Amino acid sequence: MTNQTSEQFWEQRYQNMTGTPNGRPTAKLVEYAADLPAGRALDLGCSRGDDVIWLASRGWQATGVDISATALGVAAERAKGAGVSDRVRWERHDLAESFPAGEFELVTALYFQSPIAFPRAEVLRRAAAAVAPRGVFLLVEHSTAAPWSFKSTTPFSTVEETLASLELDENWEPIFIGAPARQAKGPHGETAEVLDNVVVMRKRAA
Ligand SMILES: C[S@@+](CC[C@H](N)C(=O)[O-])C[C@H]1O[C@@H](n2cnc3c(N)ncnc32)[C@H](O)[C@@H]1O
Repeated sequence: MTNQTSEQFWEQRYQNMTGTPNGRPTAKLVEYAADLPAGRALDLGCSRGDDVIWLASRGWQATGVDISATALGVAAERAKGAGVSDRVRWERHDLAESFPAGEFELVTALYFQSPIAFPRAEVLRRAAAAVAPRGVFLLVEHSTAAPWSFKSTTPFSTVEETLASLELDENWEPIFIGAPARQAKGPHGETAEVLDNVVVMRKRAA
């Protein structure tokens, strides 16, 4: 158990990362967003920007939010290298404290999980509220842990528990709700089958 704040934990983690990001977007993002018309997108816990840069390269105006200034600095440099700086925006927030303004046709929370306790369900409800009419909310989270990943402070939720925690009303229709298996790859090339909770919802027209 650590006494670090979220910012200290994630800053230290990104400062210690020496390798470059692999540049690959999250598979579930590609699966569910590749056919959406480009609009405004918001990615929570965007890390070093691979998903935001992928969205921007497909014409989205994409905002990435993270608590780590170091991660966002790397993301901005990489966006420049990918030639998409004019379509990305990086905002540093501790999402437990503040949230970006505006509404978005796509809001993503991709493995937005932390070993440091924070009011995640509250943040995810705020994220759902930021989805524009006819927009999509895509949430992907670890449902089981690979042997090499850090230990969660709380047990992982089932997909039903996560969905219930979002408190979505009848203005939402499901696109996909489930816990598919995936082959995860570890830092030394080891593999393990893990489950992800995936919740994809569309907000109805206003
Ligand atoms: C497990 S990583 C996932 C990163 C990326 N979305 C991915 O799929 O690889 C979680 C990310 O959330 C960020 N994060 C954790 N707590 C946060 C908070 N309170 N506010 C904003 N970002 C936070 C971390 O810095 C980290 O980049």
